Amino acid sequence: MHISGVSSDSMDSKFSSQTCHHAARCDEKEKEDEYLGEDFLPSKLGTKEYWDDAYQRELQAFEDIGDVGEIWFGEESMGRVVRWLDKMKIPRNAAILDIGTGNGVFLVELAKHGFTNLTGIDYSTSAVKLSHNILEKEGLSNVKVKEIDFLSFSEELGSFDVSIDKGTFDAITLSVDAKDDGKERYVKALLGVLRMGGFFVITSCNWTKEQLLDIFSNGFKFLHELPTPGFQFGGRTGNSVTVLVLERI
Ligand SMILES: C[S@@+](CC[C@H](N)C(=O)[O-])C[C@H]1O[C@@H](n2cnc3c(N)ncnc32)[C@H](O)[C@@H]1O
Repeated sequence: MHISGVSSDSMDSKFSSQTCHHAARCDEKEKEDEYLGEDFLPSKLGTKEYWDDAYQRELQAFEDIGDVGEIWFGEESMGRVVRWLDKMKIPRNAAILDIGTGNGVFLVELAKHGFTNLTGIDYSTSAVKLSHNILEKEGLSNVKVKEIDFLSFSEELGSFDVSIDKGTFDAITLSVDAKDDGKERYVKALLGVLRMGGFFVITSCNWTKEQLLDIFSNGFKFLHELPTPGFQFGGRTGNSVTVLVLERI
């Protein structure tokens, strides 16, 4: 298992250097300039081919040595969301959707924590295969994982009480194809899968709290910001990861 993501002690990780264009954001002015100027340049991390290749390699490693692969943003990124679900007393049978589940390890954590109505989706065939294999090895055959492009929202997904996104919105907004309307399509798809009063929990390293609140301003209400490790650099302090909980209204 590899820990990937941005934290105060892993600023040189793959996620920070390739996916997290805003990893070293520090003050509000700097954030505003970056955001108002233009969106991120498209990156290979925004392509299906990239993820298919990455998870194909991880699939092989899982078959060879049982390694589940990358834990994006580190183990703690799962713990903080699980603690929030506990604090909010989210029922164990709540319908939870993991958007862009990757290797499905977050689903494993949620299932081990007692959640019984779990669905993961990912558009990468090899990610879905890997998560199926990992869930099977863990004896968690009741967890559903489907190969679906979230942006081509399909009604068959149904309605969820909680939708979780850890790194997927970041990846989608780096996409060449979806560059122009990825954000809008994502918001539309999310509105379609989240029931009224449901919760959206997003972990992002590319978008600040203010930016996310702006992007998800229609149909959502800000509820909580979950604390993440801060860092100090050049006399300034900042947070490299933002975790927000929004309520569907
Ligand atoms: C940074 S990884 C995060 C994986 C997982 N959430 C985690 O925390 O380990 C981004 C994931 O989003 C998936 N993804 C990207 N665009 C997608 C889309 N349009 N629909 C569904 N999945 C997508 C990728 O295949 C990849 O598994």
